[in-house]
Amino acid sequence: MQIYLAPLQGLTDWIFRESFTEHLGQFDKTFTPFVRMQHGEFYRPSQCNDLLPTNNTFQQPVPQFLGNDAESFKRFEELCLEHDYKEANINMGCPYPMVSGKKMGAGLLSEPKMIAELLKNIFTNTQLKISVKCRLGLESATEFEQIIPILNTFPLEEIILHPRKAKQQYKGEADRTAFAKYAPLLKHSVCYNGDILNSTDLEELVSLYPALNKIMIGRGILEKPFLMSEIRGEKLEKEEKIKRLRSFHSSLIEHCKKKYSGDLHFLKRMEELWEYHCVGFENGRKIYKQVKKSKTLAQYEIAVFQGINDLL
Ligand SMILES: Cc1cc2nc3c(=O)[nH]c(=O)nc-3n(C[C@H](O)[C@H](O)[C@H](O)COP(=O)(O)O)c2cc1C
Repeated sequence: MQIYLAPLQGLTDWIFRESFTEHLGQFDKTFTPFVRMQHGEFYRPSQCNDLLPTNNTFQQPVPQFLGNDAESFKRFEELCLEHDYKEANINMGCPYPMVSGKKMGAGLLSEPKMIAELLKNIFTNTQLKISVKCRLGLESATEFEQIIPILNTFPLEEIILHPRKAKQQYKGEADRTAFAKYAPLLKHSVCYNGDILNSTDLEELVSLYPALNKIMIGRGILEKPFLMSEIRGEKLEKEEKIKRLRSFHSSLIEHCKKKYSGDLHFLKRMEELWEYHCVGFENGRKIYKQVKKSKTLAQYEIAVFQGINDLL
């Protein structure tokens, strides 16, 4: 089973990926959170920093494009080639109305003609392998039935399917039955994404769709940093896990010191991580509360490292 790390804007940027892959394990693939583009321009040029080779020394991610026009993709591809990337992923899943309302991300799913036009333009010129990450539809899962024949027209590297509708955002359940129904209709290699939080979730998924050989995990990895090791059947002693967790958190802090000038931005970011991260720790709620109370990096370090030591 191949395991990919899902792109999570604000969470799985280069700082997380570098720290994770150095201390907790290499994924089969990682992806950058989306780089949003419009009319050939970078919407937030700072998002490009996530692609810098100096920020990706342990594992080269697949850069993700969020946009809907060929001119923007061309500029995005130039950036990818400049940094020696060989593959790019197109986001057709972002559910936020500010994005989908502009016919980007999941907004493209109700516009099959736009998808066809965009992919046609991309494949006429691209030197990259292209994959797509998508949902089932904007409002309804049956929207995907219009999308399948279009995707099948193009030589995509793979399709990552998160079987939710955009209107669900992240609520409700990922529709595994719809995944098992639609995946065999796609000509491409298909990767499953959505709500894999433990090995049992994966076993259930495989029993529904035995051909499955690729999964992408996002929140499950933030909650349980050893989930990938567990799935791969690696047996790690508690002491070893704690040692790796300490190194992972030290590395996050070191990288954050380079990115953020004051403690405030750093603390806000870490609070967001711990909102998920606390779930997988026996004393996670206690650590999370102390992280939220921390006003300085020093207080944060005490909360986290003491919390990790208490696990022993
Ligand atoms: C905070 C947050 C940010 C996300 N950012 C992105 C993104 O930049 N690109 C993308 O394709 N998906 C993004 N997603 C969706 C995830 O990649 C993934 O599809 C979704 O969380 C379901 O997988 P999971 O249940 O394993 O987390 C984001 C999700 C969350 C919760």
